[in-house]
Amino acid sequence: MITAAVILGLLLLAPAIWFQSDLLSGYVRNIPWFLNTKHSLDTSSCPGYTLSSLSETYSGLTAQLSLSGNACNAFGHDIANLTIDVKYETETRLHVNIFDTDQRQFIIPESVIKRPESPSASYAQSSDLEFNYDASPFAFWITRRSEAHGTPIFDTRDHSVPFVFEDRYLQVASILPLDTNIYGLGEVVSSSGFRRDMGSNGSDGTIQTMWTRDDADPLDENIYGSHPVYMEHRFDEKTQKSQSHGVFLLSAAGADILLSTPPGAKNSRIEYRLLGGTLDFYFFSGPTPQKVIEQYGAVVGLPGWQPAWAFGFQLCRWGYHNIDETRETVRRMREASVPLEVIWNDIDLYHDVRDFTTDPTSFPGDEMRAFIRELKSNHQHYIPILDGAIAHQVNDTDVYDPYTSGVEKGVFIMNPDGSEHIGQVWPGFTVFPDWFGEHTQAWWTDALTNWSQHGVEFSGIWLDMNEASSFCEGSCGTGANLSDSKLPFLLPGAPGNPISGYPECYNSTVSGPSGNITVDGISTHACDDGYQPKVKRRVFSVESGADADEPPYSIHNGNGKLSARGLASNGVHAGGLTELDVHNLWGMMSSKATHVAMGSILPGERQFMISRATFPSSGRYTGHWLGDNFSLWQYMHYDIQGILQFQIFQVPFVGADTCGFIGNTDEELCNRWMQLSAFAPFYRNHNIKAAIGQEPYRWDSVASASRNAMAIRYALLPYWYTLFANASTIGTPPVRALFFEFPDEPELFAVDRQFLVGRDILVTPVLTPGAESVDGIFPGRNSVIWRDWYTHGIVDTNSGSYTTLAAPLGHINVHIREGSAILLHAQPAYTIAETREGPYSLLISLSAEGRAFGTAYIDDGISSPPGPNKILTFSVLDGQARIHADGPFDVAQKLQEIAVLGVGRKPTKVLLEGKATKNWMYIERTQELIANGVDGDLNRPLSLVWL
Ligand code: GLC
Repeated sequence: MITAAVILGLLLLAPAIWFQSDLLSGYVRNIPWFLNTKHSLDTSSCPGYTLSSLSETYSGLTAQLSLSGNACNAFGHDIANLTIDVKYETETRLHVNIFDTDQRQFIIPESVIKRPESPSASYAQSSDLEFNYDASPFAFWITRRSEAHGTPIFDTRDHSVPFVFEDRYLQVASILPLDTNIYGLGEVVSSSGFRRDMGSNGSDGTIQTMWTRDDADPLDENIYGSHPVYMEHRFDEKTQKSQSHGVFLLSAAGADILLSTPPGAKNSRIEYRLLGGTLDFYFFSGPTPQKVIEQYGAVVGLPGWQPAWAFGFQLCRWGYHNIDETRETVRRMREASVPLEVIWNDIDLYHDVRDFTTDPTSFPGDEMRAFIRELKSNHQHYIPILDGAIAHQVNDTDVYDPYTSGVEKGVFIMNPDGSEHIGQVWPGFTVFPDWFGEHTQAWWTDALTNWSQHGVEFSGIWLDMNEASSFCEGSCGTGANLSDSKLPFLLPGAPGNPISGYPECYNSTVSGPSGNITVDGISTHACDDGYQPKVKRRVFSVESGADADEPPYSIHNGNGKLSARGLASNGVHAGGLTELDVHNLWGMMSSKATHVAMGSILPGERQFMISRATFPSSGRYTGHWLGDNFSLWQYMHYDIQGILQFQIFQVPFVGADTCGFIGNTDEELCNRWMQLSAFAPFYRNHNIKAAIGQEPYRWDSVASASRNAMAIRYALLPYWYTLFANASTIGTPPVRALFFEFPDEPELFAVDRQFLVGRDILVTPVLTPGAESVDGIFPGRNSVIWRDWYTHGIVDTNSGSYTTLAAPLGHINVHIREGSAILLHAQPAYTIAETREGPYSLLISLSAEGRAFGTAYIDDGISSPPGPNKILTFSVLDGQARIHADGPFDVAQKLQEIAVLGVGRKPTKVLLEGKATKNWMYIERTQELIANGVDGDLNRPLSLVWL
């Protein structure tokens, strides 16, 4: 007789059998998994867990967690037995991994993200962080060893949010100090700025959804990348000191991460709600922002080395219709003397908009080869786009090898019934590579190799649409007319979809469509004063509800259904993995596969790649651009938070579409933006199809502003290069929010209209139209001297508040921090290679005590893995500047000049290498000593002394 208990038992076992059989059969059956059970859609009755069988291990502890009562099956099936593993992995990193003891939940395979090596020593007694727990109901909290009774950095004892671990719903929350400072969790364009909104009294707050998604940079919604990592910065009012820590959840699950402050609460809260996987947390003790980022890099992997040319200016647009237009653009840049390092083509390049092709009429392969070789002979580079999806054959006679060979090798994502999962992207109907497939890598490498052998001799790759994006909902091809390549929307500029937008304050009826801001020299601005950027605020309600094809808990995906504008969440990958579990990994895995392919196509060279979709560890393979932004002032401001966010995510080589992508730009916005982006790691101007041209030569003022800013950028190349060497070796973020460097100044915690390049260069761009000045805050509260880049004069700053700086159009404010010694290229040239051929100079900005310090990393700029290098150390003290050179790389270029800012009086004598020299001058006004004609060999120690 079958008893009720047996039925219940079978029901509880059902999901386990289900997953087991999935793995064995390779494919899941086409029945929504959650129909097995009725869900309560509410976690209030969830019983929590009880900890038992604790044992200490070499590096921490392990224990069992068992469900403390009846399953609540809130949005999935409660998993009765869990294991918790706590590892003190280093002094600064604590790993808390809670997983189902049977190990049936999806975890990211080691082959996809390699975990750090096991600890070689036991840090259980010495770690900065300590793990604490309550056995029943189970809860844990993490404290700093130095503050055992202080506020924990993470604390799950908030029992109003029960700890839930179901197959398709996991929930855990931590109490946080009221209105603390949280940064990261993304990718997002956050209306509250770089610092995330904690909400107050139950309103607003943040819901960061983790579901990679193609959407043109909406505010406060999930977009292209998924990064469940945050940095928290806590300031102690009593001591006036701060400490940072980091929390990373290594999970690919679709998720909501909520930051909120419940009504009347004395605390804020972070809450995780995941659609699967496990709770695999890493905690980093910091205690400075930069240390947190470095510690995170040690887990997910450090950024790949950029070739030196990557820092040159790059130009792109959707709508260079043929090779002649592309070549003409290169010519006009040179004619206008605006440096151009890399020219890009968008999907215009393709034949029938298909990956790995060139259009035989507009971009013939042979001509492409000749064009790219011509570029190379001028030290310039070429980058083509590569979309994520592969066009489906339109009929049996259609020849498209990437598709047919892919089908033969079984490299595409399938439907649960074994049919092809068909989506729709630019070429029409498409299929999608399954990066988990055994043969996918070889097939992708072949396709890329073939392409490069047929004329597209690329220097790098632009990966697009790899969230993965698809224009129809889920698997849309079954029964569809595959030969119909019509898209479900009008392309930009098509009849009925004109590009009519302009930046805020640009009045095209008065000024015409050209985007020019001046008519006979008179500004046509309609709103020179009082411009306020618009901010759309959203109050989030927390909703739940089941859709027939989706898990019962609905994450706050910007598109609604998970499969909207993407793949079906039941799409099947190799080994029976479902799209629902692995969706967020697609973009990163496509970058990794492209990285491997490029390694065989350009052996021995550093790679250049820009990917739209990212995930933790993406930075190892690729940089990122901030996606489809708008030609609006508001988006120029968001550019800064985007760049800062990706420093936390360890994808530091990042930048936005300069001058704006969607809509027409105008002269003034483009002028300011070309200058701002000259201080971003990735510097590319990119434009949408059919919008007015926005190449810097389009307007004289923009050409001139660009030349000026680029001259600074190219002069600073050794500095950028050193910052990225540090990123690739220890994970230090090259671009920094002001508080990263000045963590004890709370007035800086929300600043995202300014930023620092490295430690020493402060950038204060104009982000509003019609401005002649800009307000900037100077960190250090008057105890730090800031000197103007251009005049070398000291800024008269207001302690802890804003200083108004002149900022006429074409001028970007750049300031140099005291105590710095920065190696520069003395003669910025048209390309990076030519710039690197020229001599160096050294710019020293002394502190009030007459000290300065700096380093420079130099190598050949291209070899991978990096070969011999030279590390220069500059130390200045008591009127002596010493250069120490270390490493076998031969630096051929000489040091031409040393400028020392802050030399209080005119020296009576200057000694170079111990010998008196006459080749120097002193500028009283800026207290500047300039030693020229130094002709120094940077392979040997060097000294300059002034008496
Ligand atoms: C996507 C990309 C954009 C590109 C366009 C056409 O929108 O984000 O940069 O220009 O596709 O390929």
